[in-house]
Amino acid sequence: MTVHFIGAGPGAPDLLTLRGRDLIAASPVCLYAGSLVPRAVLDHCPPGARIVDTAPLDLDAIVEEIAAAHARGQDVARLHSGDLSVWSALGEQVRRLRALGIPYDVTPGVPSFAAAAATLGAELTLPGLVQSVVLTRTPGRASAMPRGESLAAFAATGAVLALHLSVHAYGRVRDELLPILGGDCPVAVVWRASWPDQRVVRGTLADLGPEALDGIDRTALILVGRSLGAESFDESRLYAADYDRRYRPRGDNPRFPEKG
Ligand SMILES: C[S@@+](CC[C@H](N)C(=O)[O-])C[C@H]1O[C@@H](n2cnc3c(N)ncnc32)[C@H](O)[C@@H]1O
Repeated sequence: MTVHFIGAGPGAPDLLTLRGRDLIAASPVCLYAGSLVPRAVLDHCPPGARIVDTAPLDLDAIVEEIAAAHARGQDVARLHSGDLSVWSALGEQVRRLRALGIPYDVTPGVPSFAAAAATLGAELTLPGLVQSVVLTRTPGRASAMPRGESLAAFAATGAVLALHLSVHAYGRVRDELLPILGGDCPVAVVWRASWPDQRVVRGTLADLGPEALDGIDRTALILVGRSLGAESFDESRLYAADYDRRYRPRGDNPRFPEKG
């Protein structure tokens, strides 16, 4: 028996991995985080599967469901939105499972920041301009930010900021970032990336006020940074005609002659 933690992706049901789909189809129990996991993903459950929305459950009740499946010798597909590496509650669940001696594995999913970048049709890291992306959030009712992880500190690096769980606080985010990044710094808010009704609101820190986000709540990412919409950046050396590399040796004395 194994608990399969599966990243269910950002919303579009066909952004589930093939591995995730096959594990769901092979598991007689499915626990899913009902607030964000698309219902169509549940169509992959086998006939007669026990399907439980964990949105109204607390951690004890979720672990009880898993322990009961373990006692029956039944695999569990445990679905969370996006990828499991960020804001998924994977950590606290697997800590309980380790204590109980219940085996588990993890299948990654498409994270919402990648879906939002895809919606924008954009690469977030552009040569000579931005080479880092910070996945972060603002403090919430249930989660304070650890010391040192301030928005101001991240902004000062010049990295693109992908702000999760924060669209309700856009006004405060903007006030904090304006003096550091400047009014001309581009912003994009992507609501429900990959859903049929996805929406994008773009502007700069100076001209995109909170009133522009009317009707946008919760399932949205704020992206802020100089690479958004940029046309002035370097081309990568990787595809430069004169760049000598393993798969395309160049010049009289290539670095990787054996591949020539
Ligand atoms: C609890 S976190 C889950 C993050 C998820 N594990 C991931 O990999 O992106 C929920 C937050 O992710 C962001 N989010 C999730 N799905 C999204 C989507 N389809 N479009 C835009 N933002 C999304 C929103 O900021 C939302 O508040």
